[in-house]
Amino acid sequence: MQINKVGVVGCGTMGAGITQVCAQSGYQVIVSEANEGLLSKGLASIKRSLIKSVEKGKISEQDVDTIQGRIKGTTDTSEFSDCDLVIEAVVENLEIKKQVFAELDKVCPKRAILATNTSSMCVIEIAAATDRLDKVLGLHFFNPVQVMKLLEIIRTIATSDEAVEQCKVFGESIGKTVVIVKDMPGFIVNRLLTPFTLNAIRMLEAGIATRDDIDNAVKLGLNHPMGPLQLADLIGLDTIYHSANARYEELKEPQYAPPPLLKRMVTAGWLGRKTGKGFYEYQ
Ligand code: CAA
Repeated sequence: MQINKVGVVGCGTMGAGITQVCAQSGYQVIVSEANEGLLSKGLASIKRSLIKSVEKGKISEQDVDTIQGRIKGTTDTSEFSDCDLVIEAVVENLEIKKQVFAELDKVCPKRAILATNTSSMCVIEIAAATDRLDKVLGLHFFNPVQVMKLLEIIRTIATSDEAVEQCKVFGESIGKTVVIVKDMPGFIVNRLLTPFTLNAIRMLEAGIATRDDIDNAVKLGLNHPMGPLQLADLIGLDTIYHSANARYEELKEPQYAPPPLLKRMVTAGWLGRKTGKGFYEYQ
């Protein structure tokens, strides 16, 4: 099967990025949100991102119309009925994801591959909400989706070789470099990144170094584009907290236990860039 029409569930930061990248690569995309307000917000963020690309001379104004013409927004999941691939990018809540997959399984054609962009959950637990275990896998994008070149394909114990191969071809067609990993906690990147980020927070919490010195040390000493605390603000402290907890629950390794400071910041609503305050403050 060739993937022609792509569905995206959720038009938040990740869903909007995935929608934009697919449409920019020539795919017809249908993107859904829970209500009209969230949908308008998501579609507006895609438009802003495209206009930024025009200002930078990367695409023309006409391209913006063409790309937007490939995107259809909806609040009705039944509109995914002719998609070949649907990528779910809703909140990291297992019950909500299971509901989404059960619904998609009902409305999508039997040939369709159903993918989750989860960064923290066990993919087979989500797949179990469907009657097509062989066609469910993880497609894990990185933030900002428009910029980051990596796509992790997560294959469960039940995913077919065919579904993996089709998603590999799809991933490359949208300009990503694909890596394939088993459905194990953290996959590749987050299994490495989470302890690193949590250790930076522990270091700050213990007063070993200041926020700026921790970030500068990593940027200048390791050539990372951002320090770990800046990156934590970009990813979202709630996302880090929930995914660290999920990994700790499953592996019981202390390196994944969220430090108390992280829990307190999340409880205070200091989630990073998206709320205007995390380790840094934003306009
Ligand atoms: N949307 C679209 N394009 C964007 C963008 C966005 N949100 N943010 C930056 N860009 C583009 C800019 O337009 C610019 O493109 P050009 O060079 O072609 O003009 C390019 O990215 C660089 O941007 P800037 O010059 O504004 O800023 P920068 O050089 O500081 O780079 C950055 C910004 C790309 C975010 C860079 O700091 C970076 O790569 N940071 C690390 C990001 C990272 O590690 N992400 C992974 C997070 S982990 C994750 O997502 C997985 C998970 O499960 C939690």
